[in-house]
Amino acid sequence: MRKTFLKVNGRGYQFVVQPDRVLLDLLREDLHLTGAKQSCDQKGQCGACTVIVDGKAVRSCLAKAADLDGAEIFSVEGLGTPDNPHLIQEAYVLSGAVQCGYCTPGMIMATKALLDRNPNPDTAEIKQALAHNLCRCTGYVKIIDAVKLAGRFLRGEITPDQVRPDPRSGMIGVSHPRPSAMLKACGLAEFAADIKVQDAAEVAVVRSTEHHALITSIDTSAAEKMPGVIGVMTSKDIQGTNRIKAIFDDQPVLCEDRVRSLGDPIVVVAAETRDQAQAAARAVRIVYDPLPVMMTPEEALADGAVQIHSRFPNLCYRQPQIKGDAQKALARSAAVVEARFSTQMNHQAPLEPEPCVAYLEGEGEDALLVVIGRSIMIHTHMAILQAALGWENMRYEEAFSGGQFGIKASITSEAIAGAAALHFKRPVRYIPSLHEAMLLTPKRHPFSMKVKLGADRDGKLTAYANDFIVNNGVYQHIGIVVIIRALQMLSGSYNIPNIDVLAQLVYTNNAAGGAARGAGPPQVAFALESAMDMLAHKLDMDPLEFRRMNSLKPGQSVSTGAVVEQWPFPELCDAFRPHYERAKEEAASFKDGPVKRGVGIAATAFGIASPGDSAVAEVQLDPDDGITIYAAAADPGEGNDSMLTQIAAGLLDLPMKKVRLVTRNTDQTAQTGPAAASRITYMVGGALVNAVEEMKKTMEETGVRDYEGLKKAGKPLRFIGKKKAVQGNLDPETGQGPTFESQVHNIQMAEVEVNTETGEVRVIKMTAAVDPGPVIHPQNLEGQMEGGMDQGVGYALREEYIHGHTKDWITFKYPTMKTAFDMEIIVRETPRLKGALGATGIGEMTMVSTAPAVINAIEDACGVRIYDLPATPEKIKAALAQGK
Ligand code: FES
Ligand code: FES
Repeated sequence: MRKTFLKVNGRGYQFVVQPDRVLLDLLREDLHLTGAKQSCDQKGQCGACTVIVDGKAVRSCLAKAADLDGAEIFSVEGLGTPDNPHLIQEAYVLSGAVQCGYCTPGMIMATKALLDRNPNPDTAEIKQALAHNLCRCTGYVKIIDAVKLAGRFLRGEITPDQVRPDPRSGMIGVSHPRPSAMLKACGLAEFAADIKVQDAAEVAVVRSTEHHALITSIDTSAAEKMPGVIGVMTSKDIQGTNRIKAIFDDQPVLCEDRVRSLGDPIVVVAAETRDQAQAAARAVRIVYDPLPVMMTPEEALADGAVQIHSRFPNLCYRQPQIKGDAQKALARSAAVVEARFSTQMNHQAPLEPEPCVAYLEGEGEDALLVVIGRSIMIHTHMAILQAALGWENMRYEEAFSGGQFGIKASITSEAIAGAAALHFKRPVRYIPSLHEAMLLTPKRHPFSMKVKLGADRDGKLTAYANDFIVNNGVYQHIGIVVIIRALQMLSGSYNIPNIDVLAQLVYTNNAAGGAARGAGPPQVAFALESAMDMLAHKLDMDPLEFRRMNSLKPGQSVSTGAVVEQWPFPELCDAFRPHYERAKEEAASFKDGPVKRGVGIAATAFGIASPGDSAVAEVQLDPDDGITIYAAAADPGEGNDSMLTQIAAGLLDLPMKKVRLVTRNTDQTAQTGPAAASRITYMVGGALVNAVEEMKKTMEETGVRDYEGLKKAGKPLRFIGKKKAVQGNLDPETGQGPTFESQVHNIQMAEVEVNTETGEVRVIKMTAAVDPGPVIHPQNLEGQMEGGMDQGVGYALREEYIHGHTKDWITFKYPTMKTAFDMEIIVRETPRLKGALGATGIGEMTMVSTAPAVINAIEDACGVRIYDLPATPEKIKAALAQGK
């Protein structure tokens, strides 16, 4: 042990610590300062733990407390509070740099250290100073803006009040600070791992080291005797079905007699500390009898392949889509392109791993199980947990969430935390490492696609065939939904009269596929938008004009046969054209030398409000004549809190502070569907508009507009609004049927440089033209676009999840400040016939066009086309060598 004196946020502390105790643990565990976060298993990769030590930005997970004797330390809590924020915190909030907020405290501290030594940094200096701080949400654009704005504040050039929107200005189309942003900027928003639960046991999980095997024996005897161990549990100790049933009941909470993928959970160990639990977990002995491992659909569909789930065949779903006669139309087409494309398995990569807290309120059979996690569908997940754990009396609470991008459409750590709380009758904290979080979360599905696209002599599309096989991985999660979404958006922005598709979903022993930003459309859009460029070239047509002339028109139908009412895509192409011309002209002057510049485009018509969707929101008039909105609409960082607040405040002419939100708790809200599929603005915002309209109607009928008046008149004070999308399903034989009620339209352009000697690609700029309908919060729209395009570029060029190999942010190739690029966004606001105030939703569309735009730009730059994502330098070099 060593003695060390530290001054933290202006106050002195004497500590006696183990020599290897890191500053981050000391701040979080001893001083309960939870502003500094951790994402990367203390490997120094994420920067979320950044604090200032003696004037320098330091990753506190790398600093040993014992080595800091006499140091002066500042964490984000030492800067300011929501009532009295520091100018840097103001700058982050006003710039829209705070989305999920998980990276924010670390970013702010790195910014403070930079501005203290360099009051007026340029972009390159900012990128250098914040190079160790990762962010998945923002694409770094608004963070760089925030640093520059903070510099201006601190230099006295401008004040926050000069930047802050007037609170009395309109509510729609104005970027008022998000309700939760300052709490996050001050490090006070509680993420699940920040929640202190008295007497909590820490749990660790023994996970399969095999990809596919029978469990022959489990020996926990040594583990049970280890220091601090409270107990162990296996599947036999779970009282419910032990099945997490999203679509199929194929996933055990804890494996019984067989493991089907690396990382499958088998034993839970509870101990007094996390270190003790993990040490005991390592002492559990499991003997396996290996079974054949099938990581690809080809292996799982081979003759004699072992069935991975006894009750479900390996080919677990197939859905054709037939419209017209595509084969005949292709045979008669003047030009046809044909190719095979594939996309990789990918991790959604939210910065926060998967912490969860669970405890019992009360005792015995009547006790209430409380689960606090990151769910984006708290009611659905609570119902799944109730059945899996056999415990009806339950409440789910949504903590602040460090991003999710689809992961949290699935149960991740909650079932284990809940099961452990019930079994050990102790509060539990389950804080998986990043590596473990990667093993236990579902991934973006890899697609293999065989494509033919045809056009007539005039360049009009005639037919599209796309047979695609999807590697579902080991558990179903929402694989079928991903296929249906891919089919509903298969024809993209275009009128394609003939379609012929066979989609197949195949169980393998690979990591489970699940929801991931876009979930299906990004994969099929990569194939279609690549083929569109190939066909335009074959016809010697300009790719933008080719897309514009083939745009769907109102009254025509998408690939499901559903007729659309609105389709403002040609106008978007027109708004986009000057930017495209500018980029083409600039690229033309970069043709000499080994570094070639290219321009590529791709489009999306992303569906909003899927068939069968419905939402509910309630508003209650409060005694101060403000309102409270009740709706289980999660906000893992997109800004749903802004959207709901501003819609209600705008419709009722209230200041934002008189609109309260109750969204995070199953006791106080009704089910309103997942914060997924870009549906919250359109569906829940739409339900909220209807609830407010009900309230206003009652006020008009009664002739009073206030709480007291309505109460005296005996009128209700709480009003329900509902929103229903079109109903129906795709026909199982033809894939024909309804599609989304509305669409958000987008066209993106990548400007890239390809080094033909190294194969390296540098994205210089992404430009996006988007028509989402009337914009409620412009900064949130930009933030979604920027973050989505940053993710899309990672998907195009670098990122890939390889089960068993990808363990941290380095092996994942996380985007950083250094890989960040310029972005420009052009907005058209065509009001939609049925949206919330005419608005749609934008979260997922943002990355759908990005990968094909980048791949088309690479081809434009150096003449080689990449068919298999990601387009790594090795693939580009190999393609160049083959002259493809
Ligand atoms: S936790 Fe310190 S850098 Fe990631
Ligand atoms: S705001 Fe940076 S990780 Fe979410």
